[in-house]
Amino acid sequence: MKLKIVTLFPAIVQLYFEMSTMARAVKRGIIEYTLVNIRDYTCDKHKTCDDNPYGGGVGMVILPEPLGCALDSIDALHKHVVYVTPSGIPFTQDKALELSCEKEIVFICGRYEGVDQRIIDRYVDDEVSIGDYVLSSGELASLVIIDTVYRLIDGVISTESLDEESFSDGLLEYPQYTRPEEYRGMNIPDVLLSGHHKHIQQWRLTQRIAKTLAVRPDLLERAQKNDSFAKKANELSWN
Ligand code: ADE
Repeated sequence: MKLKIVTLFPAIVQLYFEMSTMARAVKRGIIEYTLVNIRDYTCDKHKTCDDNPYGGGVGMVILPEPLGCALDSIDALHKHVVYVTPSGIPFTQDKALELSCEKEIVFICGRYEGVDQRIIDRYVDDEVSIGDYVLSSGELASLVIIDTVYRLIDGVISTESLDEESFSDGLLEYPQYTRPEEYRGMNIPDVLLSGHHKHIQQWRLTQRIAKTLAVRPDLLERAQKNDSFAKKANELSWN
């Protein structure tokens, strides 16, 4: 997958691509990324990227001219363009799955009060919000989306790990434990030492249901209508 990130602050984004699993995906050629600095497409000596909004109001708006030139430099009109904004549709695991099928995605990172609407009208396919709160940086929102999407691409993470994760079947994850068996007087649940695979699976599913019921009852209601959940519960039936 090719990712192009159009930003005023490429340094914020660069580091992420150099770390951990993403760095490996880049090295293996699964991900190619390009950072496009909007400031490189300004024409005045001050490299101005923003101005006051027409009609008045607080904050600054990113100028259409440099941003449009930055987008033209990567032929964005012919690519899938995502603009991250608190005014977008909510980002979900389903949206991540949909984006993971794209060969190439351009992310526009806004700052201040956002970008000129004419840029959205001309270039943008998806306006996406990562949550009901306002960040000062579109860079962080783009990275959240990129991180969620790239790990769904074949070969990045094992399918077993993806299957077990929260949201793959609508339930939250079961608790995890690792060595030592006793930590500051706290022991791990006996069942995890039993070696009894089916009992462990049953315990994990029970934990997932209990956790989801406690913190996200809305998800549990949805999961009960989901075939993958019903199948799992059936396979692990306690009788
Ligand atoms: N930019 C600022 N806040 C945002 C949010 N919640 N989602 C996406 N982009 C943003």
